[in-house]
Amino acid sequence: MESHSKLHIHTHDPDMKFDPPKRVADVAHVQSFAQYEKMYKQSIKEPEIFWGEIAEQFFWASQPSGAFMTYNFDIQKGPISIKWMEGAKTNICYNVLDRNVEKGLGDKIAFFWEGNYPGDDKKITYKELLEEVCKFSNVLKQLGVKKGDRVAMYMPMIVELVVAMLACARIGAVHSIVFAGFSAESLRDRILDASCSAIITADGVWRGPKLLNLKVIVDKALHFCAEKGKPVTHCVVVQHLTNGDATDSEEKGKRPCKSLQVTMKEDRDRWWHELMTSASNHNDPEWVDAEDPLFMLYTSGSTGKPKGVLHTVAGYMMYAATTSKYTFDLHADDVYWCTADIGWITGHTYVCYGPLANGVTSVIFEGTPMFPDAGRLWDVVDKYKVTKFYTAPTAIRSLMKFGDSFVTKYDRSSLKILGTVGEPINPEAWHWYNNVVGNGNCAVVDTFWQTETGGHVITPLPGATKTKAGSATFPFFGIVPAILSEDGVEVNGPGQGYLVFKQAWPGMMRTVYGDHERFETTYFKKFPGYYCTGDGGKRDEEGYIWITGRIDDLVNVSGHLLSTAEVESALIEHDSVAEAASVSHPHSIKGECIYCFVTLNEGETFTEELSKELTQVVREKIGPFAQPDFIQNAPALPKTRSGKIMRRILRKIAVNDHDVGDTSTLADESVIDTLFSLRCSNA
Ligand code: PRX
Repeated sequence: MESHSKLHIHTHDPDMKFDPPKRVADVAHVQSFAQYEKMYKQSIKEPEIFWGEIAEQFFWASQPSGAFMTYNFDIQKGPISIKWMEGAKTNICYNVLDRNVEKGLGDKIAFFWEGNYPGDDKKITYKELLEEVCKFSNVLKQLGVKKGDRVAMYMPMIVELVVAMLACARIGAVHSIVFAGFSAESLRDRILDASCSAIITADGVWRGPKLLNLKVIVDKALHFCAEKGKPVTHCVVVQHLTNGDATDSEEKGKRPCKSLQVTMKEDRDRWWHELMTSASNHNDPEWVDAEDPLFMLYTSGSTGKPKGVLHTVAGYMMYAATTSKYTFDLHADDVYWCTADIGWITGHTYVCYGPLANGVTSVIFEGTPMFPDAGRLWDVVDKYKVTKFYTAPTAIRSLMKFGDSFVTKYDRSSLKILGTVGEPINPEAWHWYNNVVGNGNCAVVDTFWQTETGGHVITPLPGATKTKAGSATFPFFGIVPAILSEDGVEVNGPGQGYLVFKQAWPGMMRTVYGDHERFETTYFKKFPGYYCTGDGGKRDEEGYIWITGRIDDLVNVSGHLLSTAEVESALIEHDSVAEAASVSHPHSIKGECIYCFVTLNEGETFTEELSKELTQVVREKIGPFAQPDFIQNAPALPKTRSGKIMRRILRKIAVNDHDVGDTSTLADESVIDTLFSLRCSNA
């Protein structure tokens, strides 16, 4: 059955297919599945030709010195390496800004900035953005930042963040953005791992009605760095909230803000606006090698220590541009909006680099979907007449429960494509997005990808692919997926197993910063010859791919990956805790949440107060978004005779499922009953 029903769908048929809406397909870059298949075939059989033609759309100061691409995915044959267009010289900032201005897009709006508080907005054209970037490039140079240096950023969703990223790219410095929701300790660890010489931040930000003093967190992180003997020399601070005269009667969420206190450390801290006033708006870009690093971005690792995922210039540039163009079917008249924070990979690729590479107008949104009420996203869609919209399933689920009227009271007729990313989308949320937000008249693209992949790897194309609710459908150009069984055999036809990729694509990560061995072990060791995503995948009878979720010890909380080990090591830092284990638990809005089991030291008692303290420890060590939803007392943990904690059993206890499976390898089976009796009853 193929349909575009506007009705709520109560019974879900996973095989029901949705045609690309005619109004989307008629103008699309790829208008049929046959056309997709033809392009796809070329992209994997003749990648040099496929990507070579794409490369021609960019500026190169010199051509590759050798092969267009080389890679080795087989650890048994030698070190893992991936190279695209090595020896070619280019600059991504030049390609996404100067060239657009040269093409006549100078007066086109690059970004509408929509602040946290409705009515607080501004816009910036391509030409203005280029000027700001040139100025900040000169500021960075003046501070002594050179090609290859790492620059940390801990910033709100403001235009200055994009300016800072592009300025780094322009001078060949490597940005390392840390989501401004991480704790001072997490920020410190990332700064130290990357040996950043400078950091860019802001005084503070309102997130909905909540005030965050970013500078205080940065001060703390920099203090820790100095203590470790690795001081950060420069800290540039954007005056985002403390400029202007605030009154005592200020409303929550509104700028300026009187209550925010900022201290500036002499010699280290400088105000952004002061540095910018004297900076020249002319800056010649640095021509960097195609395989020079562009940025690093930390993602959770199953051992607990975050990995600095490293992306390089040319491959990432081509991939960000191409995936944006085809997945969102970008055209000159689009107003595109991705709600992700730039602190995550989605914001890097689909707020900053991808849309700019396509010369479109986008929205940067500082606020949250719930402020001032559950209609905010649709208010903004209406305000800017957004045509392509991209968000996370967790946002959709949290808005659904407020009812349709928050959506329907705004005009959404401009919308054509609705994207989702970050976690599997449950069919109910998919249908609501399609029927209520999209009025049954938009293409829904469920895009699967990872920090590591740089851009979409499994995704529908809006004008070509018939979608199924909850399936990311088919591979993007250049991606060769396979499903492997536990013993590494490829599952042909329908089946389920490990989702892997067989061939390199331009936008994939090149290494883990400072630890190539970890890169090889994490992604290439289990199945030699394949890039292992760490996700489970299922291929149905019609060849559609469904992502079944993580198969390692990572938990996906509201689309953010967290490692259980990271949460556990935070918990055991508390004096009362002897041992901790945390597992994923289903959550109706967040998708998954964290459920912890803690064994206390002798003589300690488990109380409500202690549970609160432990929650606070995790917030402080990692960040508020990592906060566990449940913490239970565990006088003992289920362990094998060799001492390994059996998380499989803990996951069952967390959801009160007594069908725990084989327990014969446990050292002490009685632990299970005890743990069931102490379960958090509200979980
Ligand atoms: O488990 C998959 C899930 O998010 C993981 C990647 O997380 P991160 O590197 O933080 O990047 C998130 C944004 C790209 C994946 O390994 N994931 C992402 N998109 C989807 C998804 N799971 C199912 N469906 C998706 N569309």
